[in-house]
Amino acid sequence: MMKKTRPIGIFDSGVGGLTVVKEVMQALPGEDIVYFGDTARVPYGPKSQDTIIRFSIENILFLLRQNVKLIIIACNTSSSVALSIVERNFKVPIIGVINPGAAEAVRLTKKKRVGVIGTRTTIKSRAYEKQIQLLAPQVRVFSEACPLFVPLAEEGWLEKDVTRQIADEYLKPLKTKHIDTIVLGCTHYPLLKPVIRKVMGDEVKLVDSARQVAKKAKIILEQNGLLAAKGAKSKSRICFYVSDEPENFAKQGQKFLGFKLGNVRKVANV
Ligand code: DGL
Repeated sequence: MMKKTRPIGIFDSGVGGLTVVKEVMQALPGEDIVYFGDTARVPYGPKSQDTIIRFSIENILFLLRQNVKLIIIACNTSSSVALSIVERNFKVPIIGVINPGAAEAVRLTKKKRVGVIGTRTTIKSRAYEKQIQLLAPQVRVFSEACPLFVPLAEEGWLEKDVTRQIADEYLKPLKTKHIDTIVLGCTHYPLLKPVIRKVMGDEVKLVDSARQVAKKAKIILEQNGLLAAKGAKSKSRICFYVSDEPENFAKQGQKFLGFKLGNVRKVANV
């Protein structure tokens, strides 16, 4: 029998998946987490499908060696091209951020017009679009790649003039599409919510896939009888691993999580 006290494994290409860690900590207090940020190979966004699948498998094998009970692919790019392949091939449940985000967009849109923003590979894969249309064929989806949002978020340039100008430029095509909901289809984008909201207007709802995947993780653990016993521990223990130097990750991570990360370990080979 699988032990309930085993940690949840979460990986991303780098620091962005910490937006998912934050939501998992809120939705599932008391669960331990092992996080892996593939900082040596970030960004995944512009890389080919084959490369991202290979990296994702290596990251999953690393997390399995940490004895995790569930794996969350906290990277939209990896979820959009690798999840359908890896989810069939491992015993531990593996979930990604696309389906929960798509389901939430379908639930929220009244006008049946949804925007999706993400990295080039995510947008090119049409993963959100396909999932939204599978759930609700009448919903129209309009997608835009916003690659510069990632370095802006990493730099902490969340509300600078230049960030606003870039957001204006990227989101201009979506503004003419009369959408009422927009999926933040990249781990970094929740940090840019204020500027995206300013450009798109308050009436457009922002779907944060990080929050939705945390809810889904809770449901899956419940369904499989794998929730850590309530009250067993009040605080989660989180171990952070990276594939490149830990200092920068720890610094950036603090911005994402709002607290000091403590020990971040570098792993030589994933
Ligand atoms: N984590 C990636 C995603 O959510 C963004 C960063 C990258 O390109 O690796 O798509």
